[in-house]
Amino acid sequence: MVKQQKQIEALNARFALTDHLWFQSGENGLPKVQIDNGLATAEVYLQGGHITAFQPQGSEPVLWMSPQAQFQSGKAIRGGVPVIWPWFGAHAIDKHKPQHGFARTTEWQVSTTKALPDGRTQLQLQMQDTPATHALWPHAFALSLTITVGKALKIELTSHNTGEQVFTVGGALHSYFAIGDVEQMHIDGLFGCNYIDQLDGNRIKQQNEIIGIRQEVDRIYFDTEDTCTEGVYTIFDAQLLRQIYIKRTGSRSTVVWNPWKNKAKAMADFPDDGYQRMVCIETANAVDDVRHLAPGETHTLSQIISL
Ligand code: BG6
Repeated sequence: MVKQQKQIEALNARFALTDHLWFQSGENGLPKVQIDNGLATAEVYLQGGHITAFQPQGSEPVLWMSPQAQFQSGKAIRGGVPVIWPWFGAHAIDKHKPQHGFARTTEWQVSTTKALPDGRTQLQLQMQDTPATHALWPHAFALSLTITVGKALKIELTSHNTGEQVFTVGGALHSYFAIGDVEQMHIDGLFGCNYIDQLDGNRIKQQNEIIGIRQEVDRIYFDTEDTCTEGVYTIFDAQLLRQIYIKRTGSRSTVVWNPWKNKAKAMADFPDDGYQRMVCIETANAVDDVRHLAPGETHTLSQIISL
């Protein structure tokens, strides 16, 4: 705890911005960034580079957080926006490697903080390869996460190959959205898209109706940039009487996930009835939508979330 307090003091001395951004001790003493700029409030844990809250001024929270989330060093946080990287889902070859990669369980470093002239606040986090990352993924890299908080929340995840060999990178901005009632919600923007149904032997199916959720859903929509959307999804929430817009770039795959009753019960960090008030729509680089980066190349996966 003393070490964490010292870390928070040092971060505040170097990066705090009056009327915009400061660091404080979060759950279990983990350092978190608090942003409040009059346009919105947001909260980011350095553990995982994980956004755990975003709330535009005068609005209800946009992101869903599990009240049972674990805040432990080296563990994934349930809810908000986990950063999935450098692979999506199970590792392709070695099932013992962590599901969804290691970015969400690693502590990120702060690289810059900025108060922008238009009143928004920008926080940039970074991560580089270390012996621990090499044990899981043997590549030299620099990864940056730029979070811009205004009326909208912009998240940019940039992978940079700093090594001598080509590498292949996947991932996702695994966003959990807060909704009033899952049965009074539908998602627009994926009509006509094909998807892999992860609950039906990875069969490929086509989305021929508006997406409403009445059971467990775990789908990877693919070729989403080219064939079936204009890059914007909308969550229509008839209970909270609002829409959430998600605009993304650098992604041609989108994951829609809701665990429903049984899976919710099976997850220790997820309330039994939590599935009723959340849906994940993940801006992804999944399955074939991975990127092969030559030495020196970069790739940015980004999304803008707004009401
Ligand atoms: C989704 C996957 O992206 O994440 C699901 O498609 C998975 O299969 C879900 O269950 C949650 O994963 P985790 O590792 O955070 O429990």
